[in-house]
Amino acid sequence: MTLEVVVLAAGEGRRMKSDTPKVLHQLAGRPLLAHVLGAVRALAPSRIVVVHGHGGERVRGAFPEADLEWVEQAERRGTGHAVAQALPRLDPRADVLVVYGDVPLVRSETLRRLVDEVRGGLAILVAEAPDPTGYGRIVRGEDRRVVRVVEQPDATEAETAICEVNTGLLATSVAHLARWLSRIGSANAKNEYYLTDAVALAVDDGVAVATVRAPDWTEVAGVNSRGDLAALERAFQRREAAALLAAGVSLADPERLDLRGTLACGRDVWIDVGCVFEGRVQLGDRVRVGPYCVLRDVSVGADTEVLAFSHLEGAQVGARCRVGPYARLRPGARLAERVHVGNFVEVKAAALGAGAKANHLAYLGDAELGAETNVGAGTITCNYDGERKHRTVIEDGCFIGSNATLVAPLRLARGTYVAAGSTVTQDTPPDSLVFGRAHQTTKAGRRSRRS
Ligand code: UD1
Ligand code: CA
Repeated sequence: MTLEVVVLAAGEGRRMKSDTPKVLHQLAGRPLLAHVLGAVRALAPSRIVVVHGHGGERVRGAFPEADLEWVEQAERRGTGHAVAQALPRLDPRADVLVVYGDVPLVRSETLRRLVDEVRGGLAILVAEAPDPTGYGRIVRGEDRRVVRVVEQPDATEAETAICEVNTGLLATSVAHLARWLSRIGSANAKNEYYLTDAVALAVDDGVAVATVRAPDWTEVAGVNSRGDLAALERAFQRREAAALLAAGVSLADPERLDLRGTLACGRDVWIDVGCVFEGRVQLGDRVRVGPYCVLRDVSVGADTEVLAFSHLEGAQVGARCRVGPYARLRPGARLAERVHVGNFVEVKAAALGAGAKANHLAYLGDAELGAETNVGAGTITCNYDGERKHRTVIEDGCFIGSNATLVAPLRLARGTYVAAGSTVTQDTPPDSLVFGRAHQTTKAGRRSRRS
C-alpha cells in the first residue's frame, strides 16, 4: 500500500508570543517541522503535503526541499478543516498518515507501528498523559472498544477524568478519510471542524479502530509555549545523552550536554560538562573534551585533548594534539598530529604541521606552518592589508620569537629563526637568523635627564 502524509502546520502558536511561526522555532538547532519531517521521511512516503497558514511564506522558504507539497489553509477552522485542504492532493487509493508540525519528538518507529495498524481501518496514536488537561480523551465502551474522542471543552466531568488521551496522530485510508471529512461538522464548543470526530464516524461505519500506545509521553507532547519547548529540548538532549552513554561515551553529566547536530565518537571518549556540539562533529578514540567547549563541524583525531572554554568551528584536528584552554579554531584550521594550540590563540584558514606549537596569545590566519615550528607569544600573521588577504608560509623547523609581526605575503624558509619583537616583511633563505627590530640604546647614568 502506498503511503502519503499530511503534516498540519497551520497553527499560529499565539502562546509562543513570537514573530516567528511556531513550527520554525528551534529544537536542538533545527526547526520543529524539520524534526517531524525527518521522522516522516524515514517511512519513505510517496507524498508529503504540508498544510501551512500563518507565516506560510516563511515556513515554505525554510524548507525548499523538492519532496514537499504545500497547501494553504487561509482560515484556521480546525484540524478537520486543515486536513480537508490537503485531501485533493492525495491519491484516493493510498493510505494516509496525519502528523502535527508541533509534535517534534515523535519517532519514525512509532509512526511505522501506527501505519502498520491501519489494515483497512483507522489507527490512532494514544498515550497515557501525566496531566490530560487540554487533550482530547479516548472514550471507550463497556467492551473497552474505542467509541469516540471527546475534546476537553466538550467533555463531561466523567470524561474529563480520563487519562488516556488522543495524540492527534492517526492513519487510515484516503478513501475513509474523504468520506468522514465530508460528514464532520462544527457544532461543538469551539465551532471548529474536529478531525477527531472521524473516530466516532468510523465506529458508526463499522470500521475497526485500532489504538497504538506511544512508548513515552515526550514523543507525543506538543509545543504550545516556550515552556513546552524548553521541556522538550531537555527531553531530546536526555535522549541523545542516553544514546551516547549506551554507545560507550563518557559524559561527566548527561544533564549538561547539548547536541545540535550529529556527534560520532570513537572508543573511550570523555566529555566534560557544558559542551555544545553543532553540525557534524567527529571525535576519535580517547579524545577528551574539557568543560564548556563549543565544537561546530569539527573532526578531532585520536588521543587529542581539547581543554576548557575552547571554541572550534570548521576545523580538522589531528591525533595527539592539545587545544586550549581558551583556544579558538576558526573555519579552515587544520592541525596535523601533536600540534599544541594554547590559550588565546586564534587560528583561521591555516595548516599547522606535525608537532607545531603556538602556546599563547597569537593570531595565525591564512598561513601554513611546517612541522615542529614554534610560535612565540604575541605573534601575529598580518594577513590583511585593508583590501586583500595574503598568505604566510613558515616552513619546517622555524622558530618565531615572541611578539613577531609577520607581514604577508611572506615565506620563511625552513629553519628560519626570527628574533623576538621582529617585524618581518621579507622572505628568508633556509636556516637564517632574522632581526627585524629597532636597536636598543642604553645611556648609563642618564635616568634623571630623560631626553
Ligand atoms: C488536537 C486534538 C486533540 C489532541 C491534541 C493533541 C482535534 C480537534 N483535537 O487538539 O484531540 O489531544 O491535538 O495535541 O484535532 N492545525 C491546523 N489548522 C487548524 C487547526 C490546527 O493546521 O485549523 C494544526 C496545528 O498547527 C497543530 C495541530 O493542527 O499542529 C493541532 O492543533 P491544535 O489547535 O494544537 O489542537 P489541539 O486543540 O491541541
Ligand atoms: Ca496542540
